[in-house]
Amino acid sequence: MKILVVGGGGREHAIIKKIRENKTVTDIFALPGNGGIAADAVCIPIAATDIDGIVNFAVENKIDYAVVAPDDPLVLGCVDALEARGIPCFGPRANAAIIEGSKVFSKNLMKKYGIPTAAYEVFDDMDKALRYLESAPLPTVIKADGLALGKGVIIANTREEARDAVLTIMQDKKFGSSGDEIVIEEFLEGPEVSVLSFTDGSVVVPMVSSMDHKRAGDGDTGLNTGGMGTVAPNPYYTEDVAKRCMDEIFLPTIKAMNAEGRQFRGCLYFGLMITRDGPKVIEYNCRFGDPETQVVLPLMESDLLETMQAVTEGRLSELDVKFSKGSACCVIMASKGYPLSYEKGFEISIPEQLRDRVYVAGAKLDGGKLLSSGGRVLGVTELAATLPEAIEKAYADVEKISFANAYYRRDIGKRALEA
Ligand code: AMP
Ligand code: GLY
Repeated sequence: MKILVVGGGGREHAIIKKIRENKTVTDIFALPGNGGIAADAVCIPIAATDIDGIVNFAVENKIDYAVVAPDDPLVLGCVDALEARGIPCFGPRANAAIIEGSKVFSKNLMKKYGIPTAAYEVFDDMDKALRYLESAPLPTVIKADGLALGKGVIIANTREEARDAVLTIMQDKKFGSSGDEIVIEEFLEGPEVSVLSFTDGSVVVPMVSSMDHKRAGDGDTGLNTGGMGTVAPNPYYTEDVAKRCMDEIFLPTIKAMNAEGRQFRGCLYFGLMITRDGPKVIEYNCRFGDPETQVVLPLMESDLLETMQAVTEGRLSELDVKFSKGSACCVIMASKGYPLSYEKGFEISIPEQLRDRVYVAGAKLDGGKLLSSGGRVLGVTELAATLPEAIEKAYADVEKISFANAYYRRDIGKRALEA
């Protein structure tokens, strides 16, 4: 089979390595991929948002199955466009990807169907939003409606910060039209859990739970990033919590999307907060998380491609999708300065015996050398019977990988161990 994977980060590298385990796979193309992914797939310089380019490539190269991994092509209708040319895909159509593409949509969906989430108000008028904030309880959370590279959420502790957030989003248009509408919501407290799930619109199969580390600095300090490391499973996701999530959140969400005529097929990511009143939805993503995927897929014992095809064909209930009982830890090595400005272009040295465990996010090939080219450069994942062992092994690997200007958090998994 000829497989196409849209995207070019650490998540896509993890998906590609897992898909390669399927013996029927003959070729994998990554659009655009990256210098590290090039070791496992043929990288084609077509941007993940170039829908026409992706479709033309897929048709010309007789692709048998496509996986659309990032949020923007999903929201732009990449799956719809590929399907229209007869290419089966993993990923939701645009009318279902809106669950991530519009926070106003997802909040209204949750309210309409009684799915637990933070209380909220929606504003399309800046003056009304500012007036509301004069008496809103603090801290408060301000979210741009649309996609904003994971930066459209601002937690304001003071009225001034809240005001600035609204001005940045609605007046300065920092996130463009993504900020035409905003959600202002209640600040929730409790541990966060990420649950990625496979769903074909009739059943939901949660994958092993995970925990992200979003802040740049140790002890969860500093700026928000795309994610500096992950562990799985997440100790806060107990059997009791898992059951409540299935009954109160996962199944109701699938049913709600069906009722709206927006059946979701693909990976639905539940960003949850385990509050004193029970689990609540912080956000939905219409795709695999990054870097959650880099700990979740290595723990998957079932065949990924077969599972994806069952999702596409609506026969997920026939499968018994299995995950290992072990633990995983992924430490992200970034360029110092990320998520602000950073220097790049430094040669990366990865010992041969670690290649299987490294997922490359931001690197390019230049005359046979692998050079850093992004904020998040790579992730190293280790598996072990217990979480402390997985953490220790991952950090031992990090010590053996080097590039100038490298930065990583030293406390990935610490919060989970303290749970
Ligand atoms: P998001 O971009 O939606 O993943 O939000 C980024 C982060 O902001 C989340 O991972 C949470 O840590 C935090 N966050 C979002 N919404 C809330 C909320 N209502 N209460 C507290 N923290 C929140
Ligand atoms: N790690 C969170 C995300 O992928 O959005």
